[in-house]
Amino acid sequence: MIGEDLQKFSESRVMRTIAIGPCHEQQPVMSADRDDEGGYSSPIEEGDTSQVSEFFKDRCVFITGVSGFVGKVLLEKLLRSCQRVRTVYVLMRPKDGQEPRQRLDQLFTCQVFSRLRKENSRLLTRVVPINGDISLPELGLSQSDTNMLAKQVSVVFHSAATVRFDEPLKKSVVLNMLGTRRVLELSKRMSKLAAFIHVSTAYSYCNRMEIDEIIYPENVSPQKVIDIAEWMDETMLESILPKLMDGRPTTYHYSKALAEHILATEGSGLPLAIVRPSIVTAAFKEPMPGWVDGVNGPSTFIIMTGKGLLRTMLVYKGSVVDWMPVDMVANLLLTTAWHIGTHRPDGVKVYNCTSGDLNKVTWLDIHRTATPIVNRFPSLHVTRYPGGSFKSHPLHNKIAIKLFHTLPAYVVDTLAWVFGHKTE
Ligand SMILES: NC(=O)c1ccc[n+]([C@@H]2O[C@H](COP(=O)([O-])OP(=O)(O)OC[C@H]3O[C@@H](n4cnc5c(N)ncnc54)[C@H](OP(=O)(O)O)[C@@H]3O)[C@@H](O)[C@H]2O)c1
Repeated sequence: MIGEDLQKFSESRVMRTIAIGPCHEQQPVMSADRDDEGGYSSPIEEGDTSQVSEFFKDRCVFITGVSGFVGKVLLEKLLRSCQRVRTVYVLMRPKDGQEPRQRLDQLFTCQVFSRLRKENSRLLTRVVPINGDISLPELGLSQSDTNMLAKQVSVVFHSAATVRFDEPLKKSVVLNMLGTRRVLELSKRMSKLAAFIHVSTAYSYCNRMEIDEIIYPENVSPQKVIDIAEWMDETMLESILPKLMDGRPTTYHYSKALAEHILATEGSGLPLAIVRPSIVTAAFKEPMPGWVDGVNGPSTFIIMTGKGLLRTMLVYKGSVVDWMPVDMVANLLLTTAWHIGTHRPDGVKVYNCTSGDLNKVTWLDIHRTATPIVNRFPSLHVTRYPGGSFKSHPLHNKIAIKLFHTLPAYVVDTLAWVFGHKTE
């Protein structure tokens, strides 16, 4: 029974995080169900028979961030596996001269929707774009859209955020904290709200040695941070950032942690859950193995290695690479909505969506697995024969960077200049 599987999925997972150093070395933990062959089996069946699909039957769902990496896969999986969903309203802002309707039509031409387009394209007509922007008061929604969403929607997924690590605090506050508060305010007006699922990050509390599925206290309240971000100029903010962030490396991690606080304090009594993925990477199986949205994080590492450009990296070979396939994140988001909506647990549930110690993959494993693959299937744009190695000593790595990255770059630039080409 899929219901029993899901019950096991949500209750038997070990979700404890052991951080053994700075952020990139931490080791969050989660085990996904394994099928008979030891592979991952999606907890949501295709077709219309699972309890998750049953939960979404006739529901109206509201999603933010569908044009992003996680949002695209979430939307695709919801439509494909929960086909009796009534309407999916997606919040989109106008961008690059395109209105939300045009953006959505373009989104559906992405490869990630190719399976859906082929198998059941009419499902795409259930998706309705809503013109809005999380950086604006009341999400920039029209009064009629606000009223309609408040009346119709019963499940909310909030995935929109700025994920830039170098974002100034002001912008992170507006998008990640105020944006979350605004989606929460809208959700409070939803008379049928059954589940509000917020996408956070496993690194919100990367300043801690262990990260359990709880929200930890902060030294400064979110409202105080919002207030100072409003009146202080960026230079003043910069000077107090290290103290505020309390060991976290970026405004991204900090603002995501404070957004969790906003939900916990201002959303009490609501059916709320926070899902914290680690580093989201290419799909394991769905909608197609290996699908990834552009060049970011882990895919940058693979691409640069494949091109032969990346020759050295400061990595402790035994440390865990906490990459989480995007389809597993989407599945956990959907099953969390089902769990919250059907079980109505007390308080805010937190799920660390991480691999860590149980399904451990170390950098050494990545090296051993990826090296033969990039050699066998070389990139179309190989610059040098792929090679190089991880370094576990900072000085060793610095020297290797100078020799194998900087020096060749100068040589190429000089040659380009000599032959009249553009230099970087
Ligand atoms: N990717 C990861 O490795 C990772 C890991 C852990 C947690 N997460 C969390 O997962 C969530 C999704 O991340 P992602 O990787 O999908 O990010 P992404 O690809 O950068 O997508 C961000 C999404 O947020 C939307 N957005 C940004 N500013 C907006 C605004 N002002 N109004 C409306 N929408 C806005 C973007 O829409 P536009 O197209 O309009 O810009 C886009 O749809 C985030 O909450 C992130 O913190 C991601």
